[in-house]
Amino acid sequence: MALSIAGASPLALAADVELTIDAAQAGPLINKHIYGQFAEHLGTGIYEGMWVGPKAKTPNTHGWRNDVLGALKALHVPLIRWPGGCFADEYHWRDGIGPRAKRPVKVNTNWGGVEESNAVGTHEFFDLVELLGADAYVNGNLGTGSTQEMAEWLEYMTADGKSTLAQARRANGHAEPFKLSYFAVGNEAWGCGGSMTPEHYADLYKTAVTFLKAPDSRRPKFLASGGNDADTRWTEVLSHDIKSNIDAISFHYYTLPTGKWETKGAATGFAEDQWINTLAQTLKMEPFIAQNVAVLDKNDPQKKIGFAVDEWGTWYDVEPGTNPGFLYQQNTLRDAVVAALNFNIFHAHADRVRMSNIAQMVNVLQAMILTDKDKMLLTPTYHAYAMYVPFQDATSLPLSIANNPAYSLGGTSIPGLSASAARSKDGKLYLALVNSNPHVPLNVAVRVKGETATAAHGQVLTADAMDARNTFQAPQQVQPRAFDAKTSGATGPLTLSIPAKAVVVVAVER
Ligand code: AHR
Repeated sequence: MALSIAGASPLALAADVELTIDAAQAGPLINKHIYGQFAEHLGTGIYEGMWVGPKAKTPNTHGWRNDVLGALKALHVPLIRWPGGCFADEYHWRDGIGPRAKRPVKVNTNWGGVEESNAVGTHEFFDLVELLGADAYVNGNLGTGSTQEMAEWLEYMTADGKSTLAQARRANGHAEPFKLSYFAVGNEAWGCGGSMTPEHYADLYKTAVTFLKAPDSRRPKFLASGGNDADTRWTEVLSHDIKSNIDAISFHYYTLPTGKWETKGAATGFAEDQWINTLAQTLKMEPFIAQNVAVLDKNDPQKKIGFAVDEWGTWYDVEPGTNPGFLYQQNTLRDAVVAALNFNIFHAHADRVRMSNIAQMVNVLQAMILTDKDKMLLTPTYHAYAMYVPFQDATSLPLSIANNPAYSLGGTSIPGLSASAARSKDGKLYLALVNSNPHVPLNVAVRVKGETATAAHGQVLTADAMDARNTFQAPQQVQPRAFDAKTSGATGPLTLSIPAKAVVVVAVER
């Protein structure tokens, strides 16, 4: 195959990759909550980005922007984590109930020191998840709160009957108990959540969950706040010391192009070394999960405890001219590739990774949506999430890749192709492919063991530039396009021509 490749290393020449799916061997279910989102009281992530209040001129439903609601509905958002993040360990739920005009105004000490009006509280959050048909994940306050405060919040959300807190919830407008799927005890207890040791946190967790009660039919799953990056000690201690009332341990890992917090790297206008380094950094998610899963397999062989990656995504230097405390960043094709690489990793570990929440949903870090006053745009990351919708609650299928070319630059080398296959709820066979190489297209010969793959139909997300993006002036620069392939002869193989720097999701016909 003759290709004109500017800037590609000799190792990264196009190759015919062979991919074989074993559709007869069902793997674990890909929990739809792997496609969860995170909305923190941070910058314009909630206020302005989603919440404008019921009296705003911006078209809204009970205060939530209609344009953003529509886009998130189309994304089939399955789960939302709220209210933080670091914010959670300073959040007092009673500040956010009752008439909005009477709610106390606080200072958001974590994020820019701005005023927190408490206009969005428990009822507004559950209204959002109900409007979107999503499930709710509430993060409790262990840092500046108390076990009693968390227990009463749980009672307020889940109790029925004559409990005074249930009556208060009714008086505030919600007759039925809320449907709460997950409750976490604190956030990043090793850092902003209290600078604790895992041993100290484990003791606090055990005490707290003893008192976190809910009716059996409305009991949420409980999460212990775990570690981050390469540190497995939190998973080790928590899964060893906590014997009951623990449904998952959380984990955070952010992708920084440079790997350094002081100078993380720019969201746009980067050179190829930042492209490959970002992808190499994000691929560390695989060993990080594998190392934690090995610990869980030792301490919890019955696999009762899930591993919840409830914060992840790219974290760049903030957009010049924006409030550094607001974590506002642009989002490019590189972010879509990062998202898809992580989805494929989560699928491969779906027996333990039963939830993930990208940080964050709107206007913060690796967002789905960016807003500017009344304008809104969908990011390349949004499109990656939309393309992967068929994987929600699908059954993962094993696949093997032969002749996968390395993509290399400088001293860094990563696999050129990443892939994942699953049988969706409607019985179709889906295949997701990511070509990490920004120069070299890939021909992928797809085989389904014991069957004949005849055609593939779906979408491709790619662009000319590594930092191609949508802007308020040109909001549709990066969009999925139709992608189709079929066998030339009767016996195949089915060859998919994957463009350089692309994400492809197809249904494979046999
Ligand atoms: O997502 C932004 C912040 O990153 C969260 O508040 C915190 O948990 C993490 O450090």
